[in-house]
Amino acid sequence: MSVRPNGSQPRTPLTVALFGPPGSGKGTQATFLVEHLHIGRVSTGELFRHEVRRGTGLGLQAKQYIEHGELVPDAITLAMFRERLKKPDCADGVLLDGFPRTAAQAEALNGILQGLGRRMDRVIYIRVPQEVLISRLSGRLTCPTCGATYHPELAPPRRRGVCDRDGSELFQRDDDAPETALRRINVYKEQTVSVLDYYREQGLAAEVDGLGPVEEVHRRALASLSESVVG
Ligand code: AP5
Repeated sequence: MSVRPNGSQPRTPLTVALFGPPGSGKGTQATFLVEHLHIGRVSTGELFRHEVRRGTGLGLQAKQYIEHGELVPDAITLAMFRERLKKPDCADGVLLDGFPRTAAQAEALNGILQGLGRRMDRVIYIRVPQEVLISRLSGRLTCPTCGATYHPELAPPRRRGVCDRDGSELFQRDDDAPETALRRINVYKEQTVSVLDYYREQGLAAEVDGLGPVEEVHRRALASLSESVVG
């Protein structure tokens, strides 16, 4: 059983989704939150990048979409997500990073969670103005091992080019090139923003200001998980 921040036992495994445009800080906050909440993390972007690095069939399929800043088709994404959710680290709860991001994914997730006797507990929307997103993405450094993200000026690692958590050499994502990053932001507006409305209508969305120090955003994100969610 996972232990919640106040030490009480959960009623059902927690399901929380981080929502926001590319560069809003989902990955950064996910790293903090899973350690705090003791739940698994599922980042569909990380899963795809892992498959691309390994050169698997799934990776080759995904690559052609990712490198153009487009979403990977729902059927591919959902099949991968279903398999990931079966892993033991998701048994006591899960933090979703970058999923769902289409209406079809949100509907399918509903069914998957219902089948497991779970439900979505909270969707944390990290709000960041567009002009900030591009500068964050263009400088981002990513850890290939744990997925932690850094920025030379905004969130520097302790040792230049090296992950604080596991010592891996940091890299720059190909899809962070300015024109691809801009396409990703536009795809977010065209295909993903409406998913937030879906959760707002159910009273599950909480909005968090994504500007300011990473630790401050983390405090806001935690505060958005009210007692009724984590108590
Ligand atoms: P994915 O990996 O999910 O990328 P994304 O959603 O575009 O989000 P990012 O990872 O770019 O940004 P983030 O919000 O995590 O920001 P971060 O914390 O790194 O997806 C990549 C691709 O995979 C997609 O384009 C698509 O092709 C495919 N894909 C993935 N999921 C899919 C799905 N469900 N369906 C279909 N296709 C899918 O922060 C960014 C930078 O800002 C970092 O440098 C960080 O250090 C810095 N930073 C963070 N917080 C702060 C702060 N408070 N102050 C200053 N700097 C900060």
